[in-house]
Amino acid sequence: MSILIKNGRIITASDDYIADIFIDGDKITTIGKSLDIKADQVIDAKNKIIIPGGIDPHVHLDMPFMGTSSSDNYETGTTAALFGGTTMVIDFILQTQGKSLHDALKEWQGRSNENALSDYSFHMAVTDFNENTKAEIKTMIEEEGITSFKTFMAYKGALMIDDRQMVGLMNEVKKQGGMVTVHATNGDMIDFLVAKNRAEGNLSPLYHYLSQPEITEAEATGRFADMAYYTDCPAYVVHMTCEGALNHIRAVGKRNQKVFVETCIQYLVLDASLYDKGFESAKWVMSPPLREKKDQESLWAGINQGTVQIVATDHCPFMWEQKKMGEHDFSKIPNGHPAIENRMELLFSEGVNKGRISLNKYVEITSTNVAKIFGMFPQKGCIAVGSDADLVIIDPQEKHTLSAKTHHMNCDYSGYEGMQLTGKCKTVILRGKIAIDDNKLLLKKGYGKFIKRKKSNGII
Ligand code: URP
Ligand code: ZN
Ligand code: ZN
Repeated sequence: MSILIKNGRIITASDDYIADIFIDGDKITTIGKSLDIKADQVIDAKNKIIIPGGIDPHVHLDMPFMGTSSSDNYETGTTAALFGGTTMVIDFILQTQGKSLHDALKEWQGRSNENALSDYSFHMAVTDFNENTKAEIKTMIEEEGITSFKTFMAYKGALMIDDRQMVGLMNEVKKQGGMVTVHATNGDMIDFLVAKNRAEGNLSPLYHYLSQPEITEAEATGRFADMAYYTDCPAYVVHMTCEGALNHIRAVGKRNQKVFVETCIQYLVLDASLYDKGFESAKWVMSPPLREKKDQESLWAGINQGTVQIVATDHCPFMWEQKKMGEHDFSKIPNGHPAIENRMELLFSEGVNKGRISLNKYVEITSTNVAKIFGMFPQKGCIAVGSDADLVIIDPQEKHTLSAKTHHMNCDYSGYEGMQLTGKCKTVILRGKIAIDDNKLLLKKGYGKFIKRKKSNGII
């Protein structure tokens, strides 16, 4: 199967030009002006923008969490991703404390194998670092191609590790050529505030927000960055929300330690005023919570300064019935919201169209940097001869409205209901196959492939 895309405006992290792209099989094989090559299919991309497929490095599909499971499985979640211009996701495996990393890998493979439509990879969350776990790091990296190890400094009990385990893990991961990533919030401070609010009868979703003030994130981010500096381990902070946390990364940067930073689309476009809606605010109960306008300013600035390298989603949807588990106690509301389908179009509309970021920056933070930081470049994350033919053709003028009535995520509400956007993903191509054509799904489940990743040395 071959495809010739004519006259599109090709945008990469560094280029902006009009040309044709020829795809043979699953790779891009030629890029040039007025290509005269016979193809099975020709797509006219005049007046459209062509970007590398989006890669979302932070999703939770079918994940057992807080007494329930996230409501998108591999089939529905990766389908929704494709509709929204994301051709690859990186999901999180959670080690069960007392069990091995390989046990957890098998569990996640059981849910993902044969079910994904988009490409995918895994981060391995280490929740119990001991001598046995330590011995598994090398094979995870070298045999399984899983090169990033997630840690939680919060969610005491099932997921959180202490600083002793963190330093031990960093030493081993550094030695084997991987990267340590972190949910950086101070679990003990949060537990204290949750208990205090519950004891005082403050049980609405607003108190989820008030139990995780900015300092809980800033402190943990600084502590994590210091440990990464001490161990010299490649390091990455997931879902950063606030100015205080970013300032800690900037401060550590003065000593030449590179800690990569990811924020998520919701922290750029939504704010904490949404916690003023009674129980409806449960839609936005996530950790860390939404923050203030000044934090949004800080994150947009960080993106342009290059201190924030990636915009992800932390897609972790729950049905409204599941959110109601916490109707009388905010601490029982499953944390997370649906966004896997919305990231690319929201960031295009709110970021590029509103003049906050350039088109090149848009590609860099949604695809290229993800591929570089997580060991997939130049197979993924670029439009170049020899790269996987993962492409999104965007109509930059088309207006549309986000709604649970029309989205493809398995979630009966949207955190962005009624938001009007300009810019729509019209055609999505994954490894040379048309996945989405004008709002129609053309791929079958099982097409999505597990992508083994290369070692990481913290350099992009
Ligand atoms: O609220 C969130 N973020 N849910 C998913 C788990 C996590 O902390 O990333
Ligand atoms: Zn988290
Ligand atoms: Zn997450």
